[in-house]
Amino acid sequence: MHANNPYALITGGSSGIGLELARLFAMDGHNLILVARNSGGLRKAVAELKEFDVDVILMSADFFGEGTAFNVFAEVKRLSLQVDILVNNAGQGQYGFFKDTDINRELAIINLNISSLVVLTKLFLKDMLIRRSGKILNIAGMVNEPPAPCQAIYCATKAFVESFTQALRKEVTEDGITVTALLPGPTNTDFFNKAGIENVHHLQSKELLADPAIVARCGYDALMRGEGKVLAGCTTEMIADISL
Ligand SMILES: NC(=O)c1ccc[n+]([C@@H]2O[C@H](COP(=O)([O-])OP(=O)(O)OC[C@H]3O[C@@H](n4cnc5c(N)ncnc54)[C@H](OP(=O)(O)O)[C@@H]3O)[C@@H](O)[C@H]2O)c1
Repeated sequence: MHANNPYALITGGSSGIGLELARLFAMDGHNLILVARNSGGLRKAVAELKEFDVDVILMSADFFGEGTAFNVFAEVKRLSLQVDILVNNAGQGQYGFFKDTDINRELAIINLNISSLVVLTKLFLKDMLIRRSGKILNIAGMVNEPPAPCQAIYCATKAFVESFTQALRKEVTEDGITVTALLPGPTNTDFFNKAGIENVHHLQSKELLADPAIVARCGYDALMRGEGKVLAGCTTEMIADISL
């Protein structure tokens, strides 16, 4: 264990793209803080990472709640951990016509996909600026252009993430901080199940979906190179399909 070394904090690090990113960080010797709701899922992630000689801290937290991101930052401080890399990966979608979808779930998704990401970025960035070093990876989505009907809120949240990332990147590059956006195409994770999108026709053939390990690798490499943005795991046919 290397508990005195800095940590990479990954929201949604217990499954899908987040877990694959965690694996890449661990492979390169980074200590990890994984945040997600389900403690069973987090424990499973630790079991998968145990072959690597790194420290893995688990935090069970629900970013649907308004104050959660502040509490997570406070917990990191209480444990005196230094976060050098922040990965804002946790996110959810909702499928359906806006006129029919549940407004409370949509507000929760805005809290998760936007507000929590903004709070964590602001709080951890301040520490990074003092050290004049740090890296931030925000997971947006290739759904931004063109915006997809039946995913109006989700696509808008991801457009926010991409725009926010590019603007912030310009503000802090000269301070030694890099900010990177990963834009995955449709990827084979539990995302579609959570969003109620499983029955959309192109998703029924799972082989058309990108491998989360490959998507994570693209994001990881772009983050480490300090690039502004990377697209990963998408074909033109998928973009056409998802745009309906
Ligand atoms: N899969 C795709 O096609 C795709 C395409 C473009 C972008 N993305 C983006 O990629 C990111 C990762 O998604 P994924 O595809 O890897 O999906 P996933 O397998 O469902 O993983 C989502 C992760 O976020 C956590 N999470 C979900 N809701 C949360 C909440 N309210 N509070 C805290 N943690 C929460 C989940 O754990 P718990 O459920 O235990 O909380 C899990 O660890 C998301 O931002 C998603 O929007 C995905």
